[in-house]
Amino acid sequence: EGGGDLPSQILHALDAAAPLLSTETFPASNFTDLKAALDRLSSRRMIEYETIQREEVHLEAEGELIAANGSHEARVFEALRAAVDGLTIQELEKTIGDKNISKLGQGKAFKDKWITKTKDGKLKAVPDSIHDAAREQLLSVKTTRAISDPKVLADLKKRKLVRVQKVVAFKIDKGPSFALEIPDEATDLTAEMLATGSWKTATFKPYNFEALGAEQRSGALHPLNKFYTSDPLIAGRPSDDRYWEDVKTIHQDGKYGSIGYRYPWSGDEALRLVLRTHTTSVSASMLHKLAASKGPDGRPPPARYFSIDRVFRNEAVDNTHLAEFHQVEGIIADYDLTLGGLMAFMDLFFGKMGITGLQYKPAYNPYTEPSMEIFSYHAGLGKIVEIGNSGMFRSEMLEAMGLPKDMRVYGWGLSLERPTMIRYGINNIRDLLGHRVDLSFVQKNPAVEEMTTSYC
Ligand code: PHE
Repeated sequence: EGGGDLPSQILHALDAAAPLLSTETFPASNFTDLKAALDRLSSRRMIEYETIQREEVHLEAEGELIAANGSHEARVFEALRAAVDGLTIQELEKTIGDKNISKLGQGKAFKDKWITKTKDGKLKAVPDSIHDAAREQLLSVKTTRAISDPKVLADLKKRKLVRVQKVVAFKIDKGPSFALEIPDEATDLTAEMLATGSWKTATFKPYNFEALGAEQRSGALHPLNKFYTSDPLIAGRPSDDRYWEDVKTIHQDGKYGSIGYRYPWSGDEALRLVLRTHTTSVSASMLHKLAASKGPDGRPPPARYFSIDRVFRNEAVDNTHLAEFHQVEGIIADYDLTLGGLMAFMDLFFGKMGITGLQYKPAYNPYTEPSMEIFSYHAGLGKIVEIGNSGMFRSEMLEAMGLPKDMRVYGWGLSLERPTMIRYGINNIRDLLGHRVDLSFVQKNPAVEEMTTSYC
């Protein structure tokens, strides 16, 4: 035994007797602790060990009783041997104190001719002494944990005196570097060791080439970084030839009340695929579809479309600008709409998010006229920031699609991030979107914010 920690206990035990079986020498040790100690020693080649699965025989409760007090038949014999005149069955039961043991014991004792019945009906012991083989068998199981004769084992199992248990044990032996003390092992060769020459006598911890090692964090491409398209390089041409020609005419010469840009328009250039800078391309495509649909009066019906999606811009990144963000876009198409209606809608829309006091600034968009940029005060930044852009789509755009002259279309494109910054008091957009986002920021914000009014 000896004191000390488990590794040194193992070394001392091996010094006394090797090889050894862990279940015998360290029956109380926990498997994990023992394995860790063995691995520590075997990595230094101080020990060698192998894991073995063994079957052990253990005594059941009844087996323990027999090992302690003797077999039933031996107890019957001893009780009768002590009574010179023999005992009646009732007296025997009383002496043993257990009717069942007395009954079972008599059967076996009669068979073995340890006891006999006298003419007056009493029970008497026959020999002077007996050999309690059953008890000895069980006592030997207690120390060897084994029964070599399979017939005996089967019999004892059947009588529920023993059970067979699978145990994992370690067979431990001395290794080539066996010693009673674990030497200090250097893990690294240091400059100091080289300078002093102490490396010559130092014991180095051997490399463990089996170890899995620490998980490596390596650079990887975000899926969004892989989607640049080289194939296809260009978009397909719209099937509607009249539309295609109209777009060309509007740009070069003007049409539907517009004087145009008056420059040569290139179809090839127009078909080039780029990462979209706004979701208005989606709105335009929906409006083109709307132009082809017919309501009850045979004209395109009033319609509303909304989208939220990622957009990409060639921006110098700062506190309020990112090269990519989410755009919340919407369009409302109806007959005889006015600009005041668009402003009222914006006030309502942002008001639902708790953003009030909007300011509008005239702006230019090639596809809307009039156009308005929408601003709101950001308390954290202490200034007014742009939160969206809006306008009424130009007639030269809508009419080229085939929409009726008196149909008006509101359009707006809002950043998802800017109003969120105002709502949550975030001063830097990079704290909200992108690789610098602090996960604790995400965790600390409630999943759902309760609003004073419900969303429409
Ligand atoms: N496309 C504009 C932008 O990205 C938003 C907008 C959409 C403006 C629709 C007017 C109409 O800022």
